[in-house]
Amino acid sequence: MRICVYPGSFDPITNGHLDIIERASYLFDKLIVGVLINTSKSPLFTVEERINLIKESCSHIKNVEVDSFEGLLIDFMKKKKATTIIKGLRAVSDFEYEFQMALMNRKLSSEIETIFMMTNSKYSYLSSSLVKEVARFGGCVKGLIPGKVENEIKRKYNRG
Ligand code: PNS
Repeated sequence: MRICVYPGSFDPITNGHLDIIERASYLFDKLIVGVLINTSKSPLFTVEERINLIKESCSHIKNVEVDSFEGLLIDFMKKKKATTIIKGLRAVSDFEYEFQMALMNRKLSSEIETIFMMTNSKYSYLSSSLVKEVARFGGCVKGLIPGKVENEIKRKYNRG
């Protein structure tokens, strides 16, 4: 069984993430969305909220599982018996950091392979941080995030 992990903060999930999840789900038997519990960041959404928003947004994809992890990604991969990491690449600017992480993960575990998927061009400028900034100041984020996330983000910023 080919199991892949798509790791990230997902604070919150965007349509760019969802596009990668949908496309990657065809390539593997199981795709696990791994939500990082990062104690040094102060996220807008709790881990539980982020997981629930991903689950609701992916309910139409049958081979997707959502779980959280702390510590090293490769330890989470081993626990899940996954051998591949999938990441989305938006622009050249993403490449340097992603390349560093891919090489570090390979150094930590030589059996693990990282593959990159090019983001759909219509989402190439999209990031969770930008979406939060726009939503926080009342800008329109329609079409950039799943409908349920749009409602929840507005609620967080008292703009619902
Ligand atoms: O959505 P993000 O914040 O860009 O995702 C970054 C993530 C979660 C993929 C990355 O920070 C990560 O894998 N963190 C786990 C810690 C780890 O394994 N670090 C060493 C390998 S680079």
